[in-house]
Amino acid sequence: MLNKIKALLQEVEEMKAANAEELEALRIKYLSKKGEISALMNDFRHVAADQKREVGKYLNELKEKTQNRINELKEEFSNIQTVNDDIDLTRTAYPVPLGTRHPLSIVKKEICDIFGRLGFSIAEGPEIEDDWHVFSALNFADDHPARDMQDTFFIGHNPEILLRTHTSSVQVRVMEKQQPPIRIICPGRVYRHEAISYRAHCFFHQVEALYIDKDVSFADLKQALLFFAKEMFGPETKIRLRPSYFPFTEPSTEMDISCNLCGGKGCPFCKHTGWVEILGCGMVHPNVLDNCDIDSKVYSGYALGMGIERITNLKYQVKDLRLFSENDVRFLRQFESAN
Ligand code: DAH
Repeated sequence: MLNKIKALLQEVEEMKAANAEELEALRIKYLSKKGEISALMNDFRHVAADQKREVGKYLNELKEKTQNRINELKEEFSNIQTVNDDIDLTRTAYPVPLGTRHPLSIVKKEICDIFGRLGFSIAEGPEIEDDWHVFSALNFADDHPARDMQDTFFIGHNPEILLRTHTSSVQVRVMEKQQPPIRIICPGRVYRHEAISYRAHCFFHQVEALYIDKDVSFADLKQALLFFAKEMFGPETKIRLRPSYFPFTEPSTEMDISCNLCGGKGCPFCKHTGWVEILGCGMVHPNVLDNCDIDSKVYSGYALGMGIERITNLKYQVKDLRLFSENDVRFLRQFESAN
């Protein structure tokens, strides 16, 4: 019996199979219930007691080696099969789906690019702000009713820490650090305590521009506004300035552009006036300059601020503000070509 086992061990070591069927035949031959090894196991009871130990050792070795060899061959087949049948290395890759830029990002970039051409560089500031940078430094007196113009989210119970209600806070941060000439554009998200509806949201986006130097005049502001309006909405665009009030500018104005839907003739979009409001602006109030340690007797400047959602609505006629934050890809995909 020992000889038979040794002969089989030899056979198993040299065992080869050309395909899966041959391998299965080998498995049946050696390992199945009626196979060679089972037969030897059955005969094992007839082995003389003093030889059982040695024969048992060889028999176990044979069983183990056969199993391992068959597994080895199986693995070789499965590797060869995947390479041959499943992977076509010449096939072109699946296309990677690319996202599209968000419409607000597209418009933000456009606004920044236009001011970039006028020499403005980008400045950014924190969304969690303090009272000084959002209100006090911008000439909002403690009890000034203008504070109510912007419903504020406070953080915790501390009236000093809040979410910025406008990007004008970035003006203050830059002026505190840098002496004129200053020519910056500040895009960013702002927050207001508003009920969410199709025309208001508790957060939205603004771009602020600030230019401070010697002898900056209202005429410079008007030039920049006209340039911006024509670049953004087309060369036919007209602007008009209406007197307004902001604590941080004096004089202050709001700018309208000729309605870009009806060309100024009057339509439901411009409520038949021919004009739509797009931004607030003015000459920086001397108190603001002094609050930031810039000498208001030497320097003057203009500032302006606009809502990116508003400009986007005008460009793309988006009727419901909420669409901008819902991330519905059916909405976002429509801006693919504007990228
Ligand atoms: N901060 C104003 C707002 O949120 C917008 C604004 C108006 C900014 C006039 C300015 C400005 O810099 O001069 O409504």
